[in-house]
Amino acid sequence: MAETSRLHLIQELLRNLTGALSSAALYAPEHPKVTEHLAKLADCFRQYSRHEQELLIACVDDELLYQGKPLLKTPITARLLHYCSQQGIGFIRLSKGLSLIELQQLTKVLLGKQPFESMAALTTSIQLGSVDAPQNETRPIASYDELTDEEKRGVQQQFDNISEKAALDIEHITSMVAGFITAFRRQANPFLALVPIRRQDEYTFTHSVDVGILNIAQGMALGIEGQMLHDIGLAGMLHDVGKIFVDKEILNKPGKLSGDEFAQIKQHPSRGAQYLMNQEGIPRLAVFSAYEHHMRYDLKGYPQVPEGWVQNISSQMTAISDTFDALRTRRAYKSPWDFSKASGLMLNLAGSQLNPDLTLNFLKTLAVMGEDMESFDDSPEDTQARDEILGCSCSLENPRCG
Ligand SMILES: [Fe+2]
Ligand SMILES: [Fe+2]
Repeated sequence: MAETSRLHLIQELLRNLTGALSSAALYAPEHPKVTEHLAKLADCFRQYSRHEQELLIACVDDELLYQGKPLLKTPITARLLHYCSQQGIGFIRLSKGLSLIELQQLTKVLLGKQPFESMAALTTSIQLGSVDAPQNETRPIASYDELTDEEKRGVQQQFDNISEKAALDIEHITSMVAGFITAFRRQANPFLALVPIRRQDEYTFTHSVDVGILNIAQGMALGIEGQMLHDIGLAGMLHDVGKIFVDKEILNKPGKLSGDEFAQIKQHPSRGAQYLMNQEGIPRLAVFSAYEHHMRYDLKGYPQVPEGWVQNISSQMTAISDTFDALRTRRAYKSPWDFSKASGLMLNLAGSQLNPDLTLNFLKTLAVMGEDMESFDDSPEDTQARDEILGCSCSLENPRCG
């Protein structure tokens, strides 16, 4: 189904929902006028569910989000937001098998005639989430390590399913990004929950999740909001997608790479960008960031670009998140670095490899959160570790560093 017809169907569905709510407020939830609207709503959903498993509408601030993107603001979306915020509802999820009786229950909950917690016992095709209940089944997530084992398997599957021929499950990934943003808004000190020092058995996908989270953190510290913030988070999640085209043995090789192997690794930005360009619903920022995340601020690094090339800000932010996560989650060579050591090295890289203003914004945000910034000390041990990470003239050229 084309995106425009899907969005049109959703608007029609919401129009009937608010119509049912207005009629139910005037008459009663069982009134024929209400039933008429609900029947039309059910019909819209039937059409929608021929192509999609479920419909998730999230309420974030003054916007309704679908697939992590704000829906066009209309009097209808404003009214529905009002009903949801009155009842403390953070999202509505409709899934296959939706019945009229269940929709009547939904109407009662949205009108405050019964508590929304009762929905779990009354329906199987409608789920409601609280704005204030992070322990909820679809709670917001502040870091990869906060996912349950089952959720981790789900996320892993998303990344496993990505292949040259398969379409990206953009809906799942964008709803994760929306979850991260919601988590940030609710936690006074989100950075403290982020990027805990991890074990050595890290996979590309956990790194991708972290880079997405760190991109959102940077964006919020810069005052970026709305669609742009979502796109920057998504760009972080997908920056390394080109690694699906690199042999797994090369990616996981513990020793030094041969020239040919490194040449393969160096293709992942352009292969990733090409792949994303052919996927429906991918924002351009994600394509840029996949292509440019190993490019340095001084335009060295790879892929090589002509003089005068302007690196996108989202790519520069992704490079910063990528570097930080790589330093914090070292695997084969050494223990992970602590905040002060990682931020010290990043200060050294600011201006040459990393955008200095964005790096300062990133590190200042950490400092405000109580993390110390110290210069990288040039002790023999640190220098050796740094050289192992840098591997060459570009900190991100080492495949295990980004
Ligand atoms: Fe990369
Ligand atoms: Fe990376």
